Amino acid sequence: MNQIERIREELIKRGLDALLISDEKNQRYAAGFAFTDGAVLVGREKAFLLTDSRYIEAAGEQAEGVEVRLFDKQHPLVMKLKEALGELGAQKIAAEDQKLSHAGFLNWEKKLGVHLEAAGDLFTGLRAVKTGEEIASMIRAQRISEAALEEVLQLLRPGMTEREAAAELVYRMLRHGGEGNSFDPIVVTGSKTSMPHGVPGDKIIQAGDFVTMDFGCLKDGYCSDMTRTVAVGSATEEMKNIYAVVLKAQLAGIKAARAGVLGKDIDHAARKVITEAGYGEYFGHGFGHCLGLDIHEPPTAGPTGNLPLPAGSVSSAEPGIYIPGRFGVRIEDVMVIREDGAEVITRAPKSELIILGKR
Ligand code: CO
Repeated sequence: MNQIERIREELIKRGLDALLISDEKNQRYAAGFAFTDGAVLVGREKAFLLTDSRYIEAAGEQAEGVEVRLFDKQHPLVMKLKEALGELGAQKIAAEDQKLSHAGFLNWEKKLGVHLEAAGDLFTGLRAVKTGEEIASMIRAQRISEAALEEVLQLLRPGMTEREAAAELVYRMLRHGGEGNSFDPIVVTGSKTSMPHGVPGDKIIQAGDFVTMDFGCLKDGYCSDMTRTVAVGSATEEMKNIYAVVLKAQLAGIKAARAGVLGKDIDHAARKVITEAGYGEYFGHGFGHCLGLDIHEPPTAGPTGNLPLPAGSVSSAEPGIYIPGRFGVRIEDVMVIREDGAEVITRAPKSELIILGKR
């Protein structure tokens, strides 16, 4: 079953005749093709992808399950959409409302001259459960990030700036086949490692520092996401101990994860370890977030995660301890949620604190 068929099943369940898709990620999800400024329209019998001359050739080759149609100045998008809606004989028409702005939604209604139902949650549910093919893409993205990390670990040394290390990660992910960053990489060192989302700057790596790298790339449009914290030159007993606590917490969260478990219960399993070790106040963010075409997708495996993680969902597992003004540690892997447990797809080593260039 392709994605258009999955969307169609949902349409029929909801008694809808057609769905207008304007969000680029949802368009890509539906038709397997990334483009801008056009639309995908899924009807009960037929689906259309409407695009302009910039994409028309590639769309014809790559888009799946849709009839590709051109719009241009003489035959604008709205005209082509009305035409397609007429062919479908669609009465009950829906549009996504979760990414589209309120003004955008009203604008479609006005231009098409129809009432639109709101059906953004349709994609939330569908996209949460990944197909084998989607998971394979996410594993490919993960492997690329790991290959980049392996190389960058050879380069990290005192005197290098955070920005230089971030640039190396980005460059090497591209060299290994990444299509771009899944988000702006976080590379922080020394006291800045206490900032979970610190921005790489001119701070210089010094012997005895932690370096935290949180980064990912895109492959086939799908995101990878991983974090490793390493020490450079040496590490104190306290640094090693905190690393061990974070790792233990991460393993506890992963162990608690399986299809049907609430996100907050996974978070709690990890948080308990950190709290019992006396660092509870230093773990401010959630244990994990789902990801896919977007780097953050619902449901969440954080303390507010009131939804169960479905089988086939893909979530990060990323606890951390951050002591303001001193240092922080985060370890992040990605896991696929299965009926009987979580399958970690990240392979980069983590079992003990890596100390680079130890003497
Ligand atoms: Co993450």
